[in-house]
Amino acid sequence: MKRDNNISSISVLAIIVLFGLFVVNGCTPPRGATTAENEATAPSIEKKAVTDKTKTTSSHGLTAEELYAKAPPELTPVQCAQCHRPIYQKLQKAGGKHRIFCTRCHDKFHTYNPVQNNWREIMPKCKKCHTTPPHGEKHKDCLNCHKEPHTPRVVPLTEYLTKSCGDCHSSELAQLKKFPSAHTKQGCTACHDKHGFIPSCLNCHDPHVEGQTFEACKACHPAHKPLQVQFVQKYATADVCNACHDEEYEKWSHTKSKHGKVQCIQCHDKHGFIPNCSKCHGTPHPPEFVKHFKGCLECHIDVHDLPTKQGTKQ
Ligand code: HEC
Ligand code: HEC
Ligand code: HEC
Ligand code: HEC
Ligand code: HEC
Ligand code: HEC
Ligand code: HEC
Ligand code: HEC
Ligand code: HEC
Ligand code: HEC
Ligand code: HEC
Ligand code: HEC
Repeated sequence: MKRDNNISSISVLAIIVLFGLFVVNGCTPPRGATTAENEATAPSIEKKAVTDKTKTTSSHGLTAEELYAKAPPELTPVQCAQCHRPIYQKLQKAGGKHRIFCTRCHDKFHTYNPVQNNWREIMPKCKKCHTTPPHGEKHKDCLNCHKEPHTPRVVPLTEYLTKSCGDCHSSELAQLKKFPSAHTKQGCTACHDKHGFIPSCLNCHDPHVEGQTFEACKACHPAHKPLQVQFVQKYATADVCNACHDEEYEKWSHTKSKHGKVQCIQCHDKHGFIPNCSKCHGTPHPPEFVKHFKGCLECHIDVHDLPTKQGTKQ
């Protein structure tokens, strides 16, 4: 609609200029022009032409000086988008902090000339705003990784990036190296197959028990040193131990002794750790009573199923 108006007003103007006199020539008058103005007489033609033109921008009675007094406002992103829709959509979806005026970056545009081969030259330079390279001197060539400046945080998994993981994530790399496991052999991108993507352990492994969550896995196994198991109370329940230690679990879960009320991890607070009885019981017997015995279990037999009555026999 807007465009139609402009075209008809331009054709009106052209005719006026060509014939040097104003004729109502059958063209539809520009929208907003009143009949009185269209019927104006010859002596005011020049001024008339100007005011007619300005009608379409709804200002009144401007002189040539006034008309050209200001620099035009920058085209807004939406205006650029009328022709560059795909780029606008990229910025809209994943532009992040680059959702600024296009012209803030493109201070030159529509100046590409294949003969001059000036594409690189006219394209915005990251340095203009990012004055110090944020990842250090080694990674100064921004477009090596930020392939699409209109979606700056979407960094594709190129070979170049894959070789550089450790430059920015040194602690993860260090953990994998310091605590060798099957994960060390995998390489970062076996798991992170998109930059920033965090896979669930369950993508590659079965849980120890049904319903065990990713949160639980991470609590016991740090992803980059999975054999450094740590017991976190919430997730280190007896049923998880049961997945691998069913003998101990069977005894413990059926015992009549008071140890049946003591959780596995109260005694085994680290994986593989064997507690000393005295940690909880101090010295329950007079020293002369136990001095001929190698350990408490010579009399108490089985810590997971204390013989609460028979135990006195020794
Ligand atoms: C943060 C700076 C920045 C902003 C904001 C920005 N651009 Fe760009 N744009 C660039 C850079 C840098 C390149 C060159 C990319 C290259 O060389 O691969 C580019 C390239 C382009 C190109 C040519 C390459 C292509 O993909 O077609 C067009 C067209 C373009 N931009 C339009 C726009 C429009 C329209 C907007 C706003 C809606 C916009 N840009 C906003 C930085 C920006
Ligand atoms: C009336 C349509 C139209 C509008 C509006 C428009 N462009 Fe373009 N632009 C084009 C066309 C056509 C090309 C050449 C073909 C191509 O690269 O897509 C182009 C090319 C470009 C290029 C790459 C080549 C060069 O010479 O710079 C950039 C960058 C660009 N436009 C930025 C912008 C920005 C920024 C805006 C808004 C301020 C804008 N354009 C508004 C039509 C338009
Ligand atoms: C016209 C200025 C300008 C130019 C040119 C520019 N940027 Fe930015 N960029 C910004 C601003 C402003 C921010 C937000 C900074 C902040 O909040 O700390 C930003 C943020 C970013 C971010 C983080 C985006 C986010 O959403 O958090 C990346 C990545 C980035 N820029 C990369 C680039 C690259 C690569 C180039 C060159 C292709 C470039 N920028 C060119 C202004 C610019
Ligand atoms: C080796 C690849 C690589 C190079 C080269 C590179 N970047 Fe990045 N940059 C990344 C990755 C990956 C991210 C993280 C993106 C994300 O949020 O997932 C990032 C993030 C950023 C951020 C956001 C910072 C933050 O801490 O959240 C800015 C800003 C940025 N880059 C600007 C630049 C600029 C400017 C250059 C060139 C001087 C550049 N980058 C060069 C890979 C690179
Ligand atoms: C140039 C620096 C740089 C390189 C190279 C780089 N990253 Fe990143 N990475 C970042 C930045 C910056 C972030 C964003 C941190 C944030 O969101 O605050 C990030 C985020 C991540 C995240 C998500 C972290 C989270 O907390 O969600 C993962 C996973 C990741 N990177 C893995 C990798 C892998 C794997 C590689 C190699 C293929 C790699 N990165 C290469 C800079 C880099
Ligand atoms: C076997 C799969 C696997 C491998 C191999 C792997 N990661 Fe991870 N990574 C993960 C998982 C799972 C997480 C989420 C851990 C969490 O949230 O506790 C993660 C988290 C991360 C994070 C985010 C850390 C944070 O504290 O938020 C970064 C960065 C990262 N990895 C980088 C790397 C790098 C770099 C490599 C290679 C040197 C690598 N990863 C190798 C699975 C892996
Ligand atoms: C992309 C697949 C993948 C993901 C995601 C993954 N792993 Fe693995 N993991 C493997 C492979 C492959 C092995 C070696 C073969 C095997 O034991 O199945 C392995 C081995 C292990 C091992 C034994 C290590 C050794 O050296 O014996 C543990 C423990 C482990 N993973 C735990 C986890 C945990 C916990 C997570 C989540 C934080 C996780 N994995 C995420 C692929 C993966
Ligand atoms: C309560 C802590 C705990 C939780 C929660 C836990 N694990 Fe384990 N996981 C272990 C222990 C302990 C081992 C045995 C380590 C060893 O052999 O030294 C183990 C071993 C593994 C292994 C090595 C292969 C095997 O089966 O022996 C894989 C793989 C594994 N866990 C994956 C997972 C995944 C996936 C999850 C989450 C669904 C998970 N773990 C949750 C404690 C836990
Ligand atoms: C995925 C299987 C798995 C799970 C789950 C598991 N363990 Fe183990 N555990 C093992 C393996 C394999 C060993 C022997 C290898 C070693 O010494 O690390 C072991 C060793 C032990 C030992 C030391 C045995 C000795 O002879 O020294 C104790 C104690 C133990 N586990 C307790 C637990 C407890 C408590 C839980 C639950 C919170 C648990 N484990 C969960 C696989 C598992
Ligand atoms: C983590 C602490 C802890 C450790 C380690 C521990 N116990 Fe106990 N034990 C208890 C608790 C709690 C009770 C119940 C006390 C009560 O209710 O009066 C108990 C009770 C007992 C009883 C009385 C049983 C009953 O059912 O009346 C015997 C015997 C005993 N422990 C022997 C041992 C021996 C032997 C060891 C070492 C092999 C040991 N305990 C290690 C916490 C522990
Ligand atoms: C009251 C403390 C206590 C509790 C509760 C306890 N344990 Fe033990 N556990 C021990 C002690 C002490 C030993 C060492 C026994 C020995 O030296 O013969 C042991 C040994 C083990 C061993 C090594 C193999 C063996 O039988 O010697 C495994 C595996 C084990 N416990 C798993 C478990 C599991 C699984 C649970 C829970 C279902 C559990 N324990 C509960 C104290 C406890
Ligand atoms: C010579 C055999 C013998 C030895 C060795 C022995 N005990 Fe006992 N213990 C007994 C007898 C007998 C009882 C009384 C049992 C009963 O009343 O059911 C007992 C009772 C206990 C009780 C329960 C006390 C109560 O008030 O109910 C604990 C706890 C205990 N012993 C811990 C230990 C610890 C810890 C050691 C190792 C330092 C140990 N015992 C070594 C024979 C022994």
